[in-house]
Amino acid sequence: MSGPAQPGAPLVLVMATANPDKASEIREILGGEGGVRLVPRPADVPDVEETGDTLEVNARLKAAALSAATGMPAVADDTGLEVDALGGGPGVRSSRYAGEDVTYADNVAKLLAELAALPGRGGVRRARFRTVALVRFPDGREIWREGMVAGTITETPRGEGGFGYDPVFVPDEGDGRTFAELRREEKHAISHRARALRALADALRSEGVGT
Ligand code: IMP
Repeated sequence: MSGPAQPGAPLVLVMATANPDKASEIREILGGEGGVRLVPRPADVPDVEETGDTLEVNARLKAAALSAATGMPAVADDTGLEVDALGGGPGVRSSRYAGEDVTYADNVAKLLAELAALPGRGGVRRARFRTVALVRFPDGREIWREGMVAGTITETPRGEGGFGYDPVFVPDEGDGRTFAELRREEKHAISHRARALRALADALRSEGVGT
């Protein structure tokens, strides 16, 4: 760790994500936790290649790069959508599913086309979002936690909120609306990201960091 935490002083974390949609969710979720203050990723830090085969490795790559570049503890989140009928894909490749430099809509269109081409209507649309949230300290120490939410993939996109695959994901713990039809706080009550980040904040508190 970079030094003993001052009792009562917030833990200042630099955010590793360059994705503004993820950054605003991380702010909203951790903002309610207390004990943590977030600073944005500096614009001059180069993009980190997500070359890992798992969410954990990619979260570590991003957090370690930002911690090394800034000398501060860094928080990263890596997320994948796992669809049973696609053998758990796109998973760790969720952001590049339809190719490099594609839009969220391109990825959603590819997902719906792949599922529509599969034989059998039932069963094939079971899915889950999984997030690994990881804090890395400048001395190499790290803490990470995972969050998951299960649901189904719709046949057509619905809703204007959220981002990524939210318009085609209906969480089991809801009332049939997609994540993109939920209010932001409704998504945060059950989402993969919120679960991972709240568990991470709990772990930091029990380690006595930032409390
Ligand atoms: P990564 O964690 O930046 O690698 O995110 C992978 C991809 O998953 C993103 O580009 C989005 O398309 C998607 N994604 C990440 N988080 C969410 C979410 O909360 N809802 C819907 N899609 C998401």
